[in-house]
Amino acid sequence: MATDPLLDFDWDPMDTGTRIPFDVYARLRRERPISKTKDGSWFLARQDDLIAAAKEVEVFRASMREPGVVVPPEEMLISEIPEPRHGQVRKIVNSAVAAHRLGRVEDFTRDLTHELFDRAIAKSRGGEFVELVQEVVMPVPTSVIAVLLGAAPEDHALWGKWSDEVVQGDYPRFNRGERGEGLAGAHPEFTAYVDAMIAERKANPDPPPDFTTRLLRTEIDGHRLSDVELRTLLVFLLISGNETTRHLISNLLHRLATTEGLMRTLRERPDLIPNAVEESLRLDSVVINLVRTVCTDTVFRGHAMREGERVFFGVASANRDEALYASPDEFRLDRPKPKGHAAFGGGPHVCPGASLARLEGRIVLEVAVERLAEIALEPGFRWEKVPVFWANGPARLPATLVAR
Ligand code: HEM
Repeated sequence: MATDPLLDFDWDPMDTGTRIPFDVYARLRRERPISKTKDGSWFLARQDDLIAAAKEVEVFRASMREPGVVVPPEEMLISEIPEPRHGQVRKIVNSAVAAHRLGRVEDFTRDLTHELFDRAIAKSRGGEFVELVQEVVMPVPTSVIAVLLGAAPEDHALWGKWSDEVVQGDYPRFNRGERGEGLAGAHPEFTAYVDAMIAERKANPDPPPDFTTRLLRTEIDGHRLSDVELRTLLVFLLISGNETTRHLISNLLHRLATTEGLMRTLRERPDLIPNAVEESLRLDSVVINLVRTVCTDTVFRGHAMREGERVFFGVASANRDEALYASPDEFRLDRPKPKGHAAFGGGPHVCPGASLARLEGRIVLEVAVERLAEIALEPGFRWEKVPVFWANGPARLPATLVAR
């Protein structure tokens, strides 16, 4: 049998390498929007298909786990929990990042961003390069999510390190790591820290009025969440609140550094800053692919899919779908529906942190255009993606900041 030329592309959706195959995606959208990858997984390349499939949670179950890996219900990540329990847990999560709570972190985020730029500008004046990802970007989402959940913001470097270890390690796929089984075995320091947050509040007759305390008191069907459920949820929130938003902010700073005239335009037209955030979410899609498993034999838009098969939702591809976006590879501030992209997924698992991520991206851009004349990347800088198959953001951004 002749090899299918579309399968002959040199690409693998699980590849952690630095190249995102936008050329492959464009061809798939054109020629085979629902296709099979070399290893037999399905790949959805168009936004309309992706959003439709994301709504079918009984058919396509989120899972990064390898086939055969069984996770005890208490230790399931929120993205893995089946309905109806997922919907109940989602209500709790939504309350953590509800609009009225975000209003409270706005000033914190702005003050922190100013402080980080103060330091970075001073270092640049002294003739040193600043590694923007580590020194300016990372502390923002890690500190903000800590404040929301009730963790100590000064521990943000620990969160950053621990969440990197989880995301880059084996645990998400195998439910075990080099050091042991489950989250507690694979990442004992992270779990011990979160367990201590829970224990402190349980022992305190007057615990602080934060999300963790509320979580302890919440009931689903008349039952409180167990300590293991509480821990799993808090760890997942700490990770999802920073791994993704970090890349959004890094991508925005990279765009500011490399897009001619963008800094000036946004300074003169700050009303366009939210559009810049949306356009980065679309074009530099932080999540490249989402992974699902087919739970029951199905026919999806004319394609017979078998139970157990893996399906990739091609978010980065969907976000450049020419059926929805004119000149899809261009960074434009005048898109008619700036928020119409798939960067936050869709259906019942759509990202609950979208407003928080947008708030952080907007504030960092506002402060950057107010404070900076230029972000000068290190001569010879080459963009290198973080080594995570689903994530798109620069591993490093060494630069000099020129103040206005
Ligand atoms: C630019 C930043 C962000 C991006 C691009 C992003 C993207 C996504 C996507 C695509 C999903 C859907 C996953 C799926 O369907 O399997 C998701 C889910 C989720 N995100 Fe975000 N996210 C971001 C920031 C945040 C923040 C700041 C939080 C903090 C609260 C957060 C918390 C979550 C949670 C808890 C889920 C799981 C929801 C569920 O399964 O019901 N995310 N995110």
